[in-house]
Amino acid sequence: MRVSTVENLLTLLSECADAWDAADRSGDPIAILDHDLQCAQLLRRDHPADEQLQVAGLVHDIGHYLVPGDDAGHGRNGAAAIRDLLGDRVARLVELHVVAKRFLAATDTGHHLSPASLRTLIAQGGPMTAEEIETFRAEPDFAAALALRRADDAGKIVGLRVRPIESWRPVLERVAAQADSHRPKSRAARRR
Ligand SMILES: [Fe+2]
Repeated sequence: MRVSTVENLLTLLSECADAWDAADRSGDPIAILDHDLQCAQLLRRDHPADEQLQVAGLVHDIGHYLVPGDDAGHGRNGAAAIRDLLGDRVARLVELHVVAKRFLAATDTGHHLSPASLRTLIAQGGPMTAEEIETFRAEPDFAAALALRRADDAGKIVGLRVRPIESWRPVLERVAAQADSHRPKSRAARRR
């Protein structure tokens, strides 16, 4: 699935209000939309100038909704869905949130992973090897990818009140406009 407009993305996110990362609700304790909103809000607080990072947080787990049960692929699935609309950097950050978990599991013994995140870690490749750690550190968006992952793992608080999804519309529109301006003309024309 490819999301082609901000309106479609907002609809998709709204559908995640009653969707969970595990269909039997044995996974994280809040619905995907609540979790994505908490993650995005933490990133807005800590990285107010980086709207692409905030938006990556807002959409990072839609892969769980698009392809239920594919824990290992949910980063890639989410990235593929939003790449055309939100651009390559946002898609890369969405994809890397799974990779960054493997990095933190290997390098930061104090980092808290929820029981569900620990359960899926093995299917996602387990903690990184020394070679993988070196490769990931060289990733141009290494710091942003780690920030997203830390917000991801902190944004799972049951009952926390956050700003509604609609408050993100102008931010999504700005990020989509930036992506559009970087798109080759032929692709941009096809979308209109
Ligand atoms: Fe998440």
